[in-house]
Amino acid sequence: MPRLLLRLFLGSLALLAPCLAVGDAAAQMPMAWKTGPEAAAIERRIDRLLRQMTVDEKVGQLHLYGRREGFDNGEIRSGRIGNVMNFVDPAEMAAVQKAARESRLKIPLLIGLDAVHGVSTYFPLPLGQAATFNPALVEEAALWTGREARALGINWTFAPMVDMSRDPRWGRLLEGAGEDVHLSGIMAAARTRGYQAGGVAATVKHFVGYGGGEAGRDYNTAWIPAEQLHDLHLPPFRSALDAGSLSVMAAFNSVNGMPATAHKGMLTDLLRRQWGFRGLVVSDFGSIPELMAHGIARDEAEAARKALAAGVDIDMMGFVYSRHLATEVRAGRVPIAQIDEAVRRVLRVKFHAGMDTINDIDPKTAESALQSPPALDAARRAARESIILLENDGILPLDPARHRRVAVIGALARPDQERVWTDPAGVPRKPLESLDAALARLLGGGATISYQPGVTTYCGTEFADRAAAIEAASAADVIIAKLGEDCEFMGEGASRTRLTLPGVQDALLEELIGTGKPVVLVLATGRPLVLSHLKGRVAALVQTFHAGSEGRTAIAEVLTGAVNPSGKTPISFPRAVGQIPVYHDHLPTGRPETKRRFRYESIFMDEANQPLYPFGYGLSYTRFSISDLRIETPRIDPNGLLKASVLVSNTGSRDGQEVVQLYVRQPVASISRPVRQLKAFDKVMLKAGASQRVSFTVPAQALGYHDTAGRLMVEAGGFEVHAGTSSMTELKGEFSVSGSTRDGVRMRP
Ligand code: BGC
Repeated sequence: MPRLLLRLFLGSLALLAPCLAVGDAAAQMPMAWKTGPEAAAIERRIDRLLRQMTVDEKVGQLHLYGRREGFDNGEIRSGRIGNVMNFVDPAEMAAVQKAARESRLKIPLLIGLDAVHGVSTYFPLPLGQAATFNPALVEEAALWTGREARALGINWTFAPMVDMSRDPRWGRLLEGAGEDVHLSGIMAAARTRGYQAGGVAATVKHFVGYGGGEAGRDYNTAWIPAEQLHDLHLPPFRSALDAGSLSVMAAFNSVNGMPATAHKGMLTDLLRRQWGFRGLVVSDFGSIPELMAHGIARDEAEAARKALAAGVDIDMMGFVYSRHLATEVRAGRVPIAQIDEAVRRVLRVKFHAGMDTINDIDPKTAESALQSPPALDAARRAARESIILLENDGILPLDPARHRRVAVIGALARPDQERVWTDPAGVPRKPLESLDAALARLLGGGATISYQPGVTTYCGTEFADRAAAIEAASAADVIIAKLGEDCEFMGEGASRTRLTLPGVQDALLEELIGTGKPVVLVLATGRPLVLSHLKGRVAALVQTFHAGSEGRTAIAEVLTGAVNPSGKTPISFPRAVGQIPVYHDHLPTGRPETKRRFRYESIFMDEANQPLYPFGYGLSYTRFSISDLRIETPRIDPNGLLKASVLVSNTGSRDGQEVVQLYVRQPVASISRPVRQLKAFDKVMLKAGASQRVSFTVPAQALGYHDTAGRLMVEAGGFEVHAGTSSMTELKGEFSVSGSTRDGVRMRP
């Protein structure tokens, strides 16, 4: 991941202006597949170019090189580098794009960056965005991220990550949408649309199975049965591609013994032949030479041959295409047709995305496009809806009459102390509000707010003036502790076997609880931690997945009741690491747990089966009831639509939002089916005392499952519908599907 590049120069953007070839580039063109005559013209143009290109120029289009000191634009001018990454300085980006225009064939560069949850305006981590259960808001977040990236000169992002994982030990869980395949598919499509509308080509990643690594260890082997591959891991990719994602990134891991980077079955047979994907596939960072470490290539040249033959078009920072492909072609070991096909896909993306028609960025425009008021407003709205209230003994919202002295403890309360792992490059940010300042503003003059970091840095590995933190806490009516995971504790390469607060934070928290003052624990993490030991010991538990630029303000709004929390868990929170994987749509067992907890049942001797907080769970300051489930289509055929509705009532005294969730189960089928699966949800805003009927439509095809050959099967029989406010809902109805169908996997048009 890129880290620290931009701060150094963006401060002097204005000075750079004269150096640039400037156009009206920040004009942000939505990127989308073209069709009909336009698409045909692009193919003819590619044909012409392929006839003109030398082998070296062709290989240049398959090479992706990262920014570093001494980067040589001459390599671009000579056509040997066709794509770059990790540039964040608009002036440098203008310069490399200019070099491409000065090359013989003037083919524009792809300029890629991981814009995971923001560029300058930060939105909640994708896991937090999923907690909003609000795809429109998530699309807006990606739109602003795309716009900010585009304003700097970036035209390609390595996002969205849609890897399915049920393993919070895996540090990259934060980049996805959690454990549920339906929610993940919806978020994958929303993010893809948003990025591309903002002006950057999306890259859905990591194809495939990266989130299924054994034991949650990053880069580890994944063994995934075909049915699960098709029912769980592939659908979010399909959703992103259906939403128009122009590129795909191959994964680091092996799937069922074959490294994804050399997986012809996945990259060519499935992705291209069956699904009809016409865009480009990029490797992950250095993953082509890693085929040697995987033990399927003797040397770099063989690794390059295998990846190319499998369908990887661009070598990201592996340097093996650039070093070996031309020689391999000349030696007759790689057919030129294979190279041409890969080049065609790269050029197709560039031309469909209109990259050659967009002028350079203007640094002045770039500057004003960062952290614009509407982007920050979107970030605030996303942050508000991403906050999940896990526990509340009634202390929240804070009462200015009772909570006059508030101690805010934890370095994460201050924006300057928080660095999120996915932060692309330390892009400058305008001063943002701290949690203590936001609380002071919202609680008014009657409140006294004290702040102590408690730990020296946001990593929480060492105490900062511990005595001062405890003294401040002891003198308060309520303690707001903002603790969590950051630094090297989350993200890529940050798998963990203990899901505790890192460093000394648990000890600090125990001391805070020991003061006898009520503790409101606000967590900022990249995954669910194990929180069982805190149940009943903290007055309230507020979960955020790093809520972004406006996060502290939004947290203060929730704590004070200015905003009623509505976030829902996108993943089950385990009671203990030993329960993992624990998720809502598991299969039944022959020996399910009964109330008696008979020994020879499928249970743990020392822990419950259920998670601490189930999927789809989150409290509000008001109460919602869901009733009167009506199934309007008691009998449907396999191509029909299930129509159901429920009455949602806000029975409390505050306005609020609720996520109404619809789960389906097929209790008897020819194979064992999950105990329930999310098939639809809707987020509704209801005034105190108001009711609303919420309707759902679910295509019968969505009730099917895949066989070992990847064919979708919708099986006749009875189905149960469960509706409610979390995956533990009990409200139940029934319908049936008549007649079965065995379809091939639906083709892209
Ligand atoms: C990650 C990718 C990322 C790439 C470029 C890799 O280590 O796995 O997700 O896009 O780096 O930053």
